[in-house]
Amino acid sequence: MVRARSLIVGIATYIPGLRSLTGRKTGGTVSARYCYAVWLRHLSFLHRHGLPTTFETVAELGPGDSLGVGLAALLSGAGRYIALDAARYADGARNLQILKELIALFRNRAPIPDHLEFPLLQPSLDSYTFPADLLTSTRLGAALIPARLDMIRAAVANAGTSLHDRGPVYYIAPWEPGLVENGTVDLVLSQTVLEFPQDLAGIYAETCRWLKPGGIMSHEIDFKSVGMTVEWNGHWSCSDALWRLVAGRRRHRLNREPHSTHIALLQRMGCRVVCDERTVRPSGITRAQLAPRFRHLTDDDLTTSSALIQAVKLA
Ligand SMILES: C[S@@+](CC[C@H](N)C(=O)[O-])C[C@H]1O[C@@H](n2cnc3c(N)ncnc32)[C@H](O)[C@@H]1O
Repeated sequence: MVRARSLIVGIATYIPGLRSLTGRKTGGTVSARYCYAVWLRHLSFLHRHGLPTTFETVAELGPGDSLGVGLAALLSGAGRYIALDAARYADGARNLQILKELIALFRNRAPIPDHLEFPLLQPSLDSYTFPADLLTSTRLGAALIPARLDMIRAAVANAGTSLHDRGPVYYIAPWEPGLVENGTVDLVLSQTVLEFPQDLAGIYAETCRWLKPGGIMSHEIDFKSVGMTVEWNGHWSCSDALWRLVAGRRRHRLNREPHSTHIALLQRMGCRVVCDERTVRPSGITRAQLAPRFRHLTDDDLTTSSALIQAVKLA
């Protein structure tokens, strides 16, 4: 069942001028500890599945309020970070502050912030101790040398806005398909982003094109209705007409695609899924309540509230 407030906000977005009041902030990446927690979760799962954990070029979709997740990648040794967002949220001052706090977290080998600190952050880990087996003293020693940190600070203060610029940090928002060259990226990651693009097949085709053969995708995807319905998965019970009113013209609208769509698209684009870490919850709706276009959902789809999906691009 749709929440009355969501319906009112959705309808209000059709009034000229009010749409821009939605999606003004994105959430988590205002906090360095959140960014550290996100990056180390992706890295820990890559390691657990025997996938590479060192990357020359990392591209992130939808970094949100700061570039902190990608900065954590740079502090772990990545050479280049390309941040691509649908809208510009991050600013230089916040990025520099987050970078400073991240440097301290890595220098102190701080434990990974856990589910008690960030209850909504998925996936959860078996252990939140610092992953010293993959971020070894040698690796961090080289990544955190003062001259390299100065270079990263300068790049963050003056992030490239086009891939023709030089430097290790790029922030392009809004971005468009075609900007990133074929086979130039080692890791494409995102955290609670792929539930939004309306052209999901286009996004997967585009990001697979960026990857080098053997390159990695690592996406944490939230399948919940983000509070727009009473039940966590009530959005799958809404007809398209009702959903058009609820979602309205919000800056970011859920695409309502379930888990199986992401797996199928990755496979169709020539990627092998290596990690599929699903968070499951009992469904809040019955099969009979599903809207006609969601009748095909599998039982797994109906109970998967989020998933970390990691895949390798086949040669
Ligand atoms: C819920 S926020 C998550 C932000 C951040 N990753 C975090 O963990 O806090 C969703 C982000 O996805 C971005 N986004 C939505 N559609 C996108 C697209 N097609 N390409 C890139 N980013 C997109 C939004 O602009 C926003 O920054």
